[in-house]
Amino acid sequence: MKEKTVFICQSCGAHSPKWMGRCGQCGEWNSLVEEIEEEAAPSDAFFPASEPVLYKEIREFEKPRLKIAMDEFNKVLGGGVVVGSVVLIGGEPGIGKSTLLLQVSRDIALQEETVLYVSGEESLEQIKLRGDRLGVRDGRLFLLAETNLERILAQAERLKPAALIVDSVQTIFSSKMSSSPGTISQVREVANQIIRFAKRSQVPSFLIGHITKEGSLAGPKSLEHMVDVVLLFEGERDHSHRVLRALKNRFGPVSELAVFEMAGSGLQAISNPSAFFLRERPKEEPGSAVICTIKGTRPLLAEIQALVSSTLFAGNPRRMTVGLDHYRAAMLLALVEKKAGYAFSGEDIYLNVAGGMTIDEPAADLGIVLAVVSSLKNKPIPKDLAVFGEIGLSGEIRSVGQPAARIREAHSLGFETVLLPAGNLDQLDRKDLPRVNCLGAQTVRQALDYVF
Ligand code: TYD
Ligand code: MG
Repeated sequence: MKEKTVFICQSCGAHSPKWMGRCGQCGEWNSLVEEIEEEAAPSDAFFPASEPVLYKEIREFEKPRLKIAMDEFNKVLGGGVVVGSVVLIGGEPGIGKSTLLLQVSRDIALQEETVLYVSGEESLEQIKLRGDRLGVRDGRLFLLAETNLERILAQAERLKPAALIVDSVQTIFSSKMSSSPGTISQVREVANQIIRFAKRSQVPSFLIGHITKEGSLAGPKSLEHMVDVVLLFEGERDHSHRVLRALKNRFGPVSELAVFEMAGSGLQAISNPSAFFLRERPKEEPGSAVICTIKGTRPLLAEIQALVSSTLFAGNPRRMTVGLDHYRAAMLLALVEKKAGYAFSGEDIYLNVAGGMTIDEPAADLGIVLAVVSSLKNKPIPKDLAVFGEIGLSGEIRSVGQPAARIREAHSLGFETVLLPAGNLDQLDRKDLPRVNCLGAQTVRQALDYVF
């Protein structure tokens, strides 16, 4: 066979006959790597040849699911791990992917099931060290330190585990290909073979994939269409909380999300994330507003903090946001100046979401405006007030989705008053709501008048 080399972009997978400094397809710099062009093995061998079936004769069946003791994990998957499915878990290095899956392995092994945890990154001793912290003891949990895919699959065939974990897909290589591990062709081949194994033997398999902050490193992105479920594990490394959510799920909704805290003994599920994010909120301080936001389908309370202080850079004051969209914040500041008559031109403004959370929902607008004005006036917002609402460019407050869920969440955390868009308040059936004081606002000015 004649060997032909090609250059493959590790970011988007584009092929090029010659090396270039920049990928012509996606524009990424320095991403082309020389690989040997190989005949891809035919990938239609998942199932035996099939016949067309009349639609109404197809019997649906509920696929059996494996439940994990960590119920938050089941929820994100839509009610447990579907047998024979392949789940890709992506996240930045050091975020806790290995920890999470070792805990999952521990839980499955405790149900008298066999688990095979393959690591291409760490030695058995290193994994055991982590396992000791996580309280892994009994159960049929097998560890395998191996990077050769064919050997891994041979062991998996022999052991017939109830779950297979591969940590990480970038370190494993197939000897059928000569490219180095971690290149896009290797990562795809590895995923392909594991998917085939999972479908054939009905073994649910988890692939760990490292991704960068931009989410664009070779591999994981290019695997998304092949696997059944894609989970993202994210968080700020200097904060203890981690969020696990589904980006794609062939067996359930993608809207569920779970919050974990990284503790000394591994990841602990946080059953009440709102209380967690508000736990250190200063009660009588200016510049702090509590908003009712929605993450996935889950209502969540978060604290927006603003600091307004006179600037040293006359004519060019600072505008900084952490966890919020910079442009949206700038737009809101301009709007408050125009519509409510405040002047920010001599002020530096810093905005932050407490606890390292990110909020990308326009429903946070009202909270941002209130926090900024509160800091500017040096007057605290009443401590039992929670708010939500999108602000339009004429200063009108616009309705947002799921108002009832937001109000209920605020009530369950002890907030007595909720300030919300008047439009939302009109649609709501007051009988369904908990006994909280709901105030509808039509304009930013009205909202500010009410609070201050
Ligand atoms: P790890 O699972 O190795 O991350 P990944 O596989 O995503 O690269 O965990 C990373 C961090 O978690 C590491 O810095 C140590 C910390 N950690 C704890 O704080 N508590 C624990 O019980 C464990 C096991 C890890
Ligand atoms: Mg790891």
